[in-house]
Amino acid sequence: MPRHVSSKWKKTAAIMDSASLRRLVPETVRFGGRELGRKLKRYGMVYVKPESGTHGKGVMRAERTAGGRCLLRTGRRQRAYSSCARMAEALRRKIRGRKYLIQRGIRLLKHNGRAFDLRVMAQWTPRKTWRTTGMIGRVAAPGKIVTNYHSGGKLVPVNRLLAGHTGKSSADRTIRTLERIGIKAGKALRRRYPGVCEVGVDIGLDRTLKPWIIEVNTSPDPYIFRKLPDPSIFQRIRRYAKAYGRK
Ligand SMILES: Nc1ncnc2c1ncn2[C@@H]1O[C@H](COP(=O)(O)OP(=O)(O)O)[C@@H](O)[C@H]1O
Ligand SMILES: [Mg+2]
Repeated sequence: MPRHVSSKWKKTAAIMDSASLRRLVPETVRFGGRELGRKLKRYGMVYVKPESGTHGKGVMRAERTAGGRCLLRTGRRQRAYSSCARMAEALRRKIRGRKYLIQRGIRLLKHNGRAFDLRVMAQWTPRKTWRTTGMIGRVAAPGKIVTNYHSGGKLVPVNRLLAGHTGKSSADRTIRTLERIGIKAGKALRRRYPGVCEVGVDIGLDRTLKPWIIEVNTSPDPYIFRKLPDPSIFQRIRRYAKAYGRK
C-alpha cells in the first residue's frame, strides 16, 4: 500500500469524494489549449502546473488583461502575448506530451504586499483517527507567484498572518475551519489510498477569508514546523510520524 501519491490529478479526485471539501477546490482540469482559453475566459486568471511537481517547480500563472492580451508568469519572468490563443499555442509547444493541469487561480491574501497561503498538517494517529497537528503560513518571496519554502517563501505563524486581515474571534474560527479541513483531507485520501498516514494541505485564502484547497501533499516536509516559535508543534509532528514508522 503506497504511502505517497504524486499525481495532483488523482489527489484532487480523492478530495472531491468529500462533499464538504469539493466546494473548496478551485476548478481543476487537465491541460489543453482549448481548455486554457475557456478557463481564462471564465476566471480571468489560472495556474498551470505539472501534474506531479513539487516545491513550486514549473508552476505558471496565466492572466487575461482588459485589452484582450494575455500574460504568462513563471518565476519572476513575465511574457505578454497579443492573444490568449497565441499564449495557449506557446504553452502547448512547451508542455508537449507532459501532463499538466489548469486550475482556477485564487487571488491570495497578502502580507506586506506578498501573497501567502497556509500549510496544514494532519496525521494518522495510533487511535486510528486523523488529527491536525500543525499549521504554518508561507509568504511568497518578492515578485514570485509561488509561496513554497523551497522557492524562497518565508515561514510565518498563521495567527500573525490572519491578524493583518481580521479580528481575534474570526481568526480563531478560521483556524478551527482549517483544522477540520486537514482531518477531512486525511480521511478522503486514506479512503482511496489506505497507505496514506499524513497529509500536508496547501490552503489559500481569498479576501473573504474563504479557504481554497490548492493541493494535498502525501509526503509533506515536517521540518518547516521547526520555524515556529513553539517547539512543541514540531515535536508532536515527529512523535506521530514515528508511530506510523516514518523516519
Ligand atoms: N490555483 C492557485 N491559485 C493561487 N495560487 C496557486 C494556485 N496553484 C498554485 N498556487 C501557488 O503556487 C504554489 C505551488 O503550487 P502547488 O499546487 O502547491 O504545487 P507544488 O507541488 O509545486 O507545491 C502554491 O503553494 C501557491 O502559492
Ligand atoms: Mg504545494
